[in-house]
Amino acid sequence: MGLRFVSVIAVIAVFGLGCSKKDEGGTGSTASAVSPEAAEIFKQRCVTCHGDDGKGSGPAAASLNPKPRDYTDAAWQGQVKDDELRKIIVKGGAAVGKATTMPPNPDLESKPAVVDGLVAKIRSFKK
Ligand code: HEC
Repeated sequence: MGLRFVSVIAVIAVFGLGCSKKDEGGTGSTASAVSPEAAEIFKQRCVTCHGDDGKGSGPAAASLNPKPRDYTDAAWQGQVKDDELRKIIVKGGAAVGKATTMPPNPDLESKPAVVDGLVAKIRSFKK
C-alpha cells in the first residue's frame, strides 16, 4: 500500500467525519449519534419526566413546576448550545440556576460519549 493510497483514505475519512458531524437542523450542534447506551439511559433515567416524545409529558412531569421543556420546540433547539445541555445533564438544574427537580447525573461526568449521545437524543426530538 503506497503512501498516496493511504492519504486518499485519510481524506475520505476526514470528509466522512465532517459530514456525519454536520448539523442537520442548523443548530450548530456537533453531537454524535444516539448510541445504544445513551438511548437506554434516556429510557431509564429521563423518560419519566421528559416523556417518550421529549415533550416533557412523562408520568412524573404532572407534579413538576416548572415542567420540563418541550424538546420539539425548534426555536429553543436553535438557540441552546450543546455545552449547556451537557452541563445540566451532568450537574443538574441547580448548577445552572434552573429547577432542582432536574437531577444531576454525576456518574456520567466520566462518560462524555454517553453525555453526547443524550445530547443527540435531545436534538433528535426537534421538529
Ligand atoms: C425528576 C424529573 C426529571 C428527570 C428524571 C430528568 N429531568 Fe431533565 N429536566 C427536568 C425539569 C423539571 C427541567 C426544567 C428545569 C427548568 O426549566 O428550570 C429539566 C431540564 C432539562 C434540560 C434543560 C432544558 C432547557 O430548558 O434548557 C435538559 C437538557 C435535561 N433536562 C435533560 C435530561 C436528561 C438527559 C435526563 C436523563 C439523564 C433528565 N433530564 C432527567 C426534570 C427531569
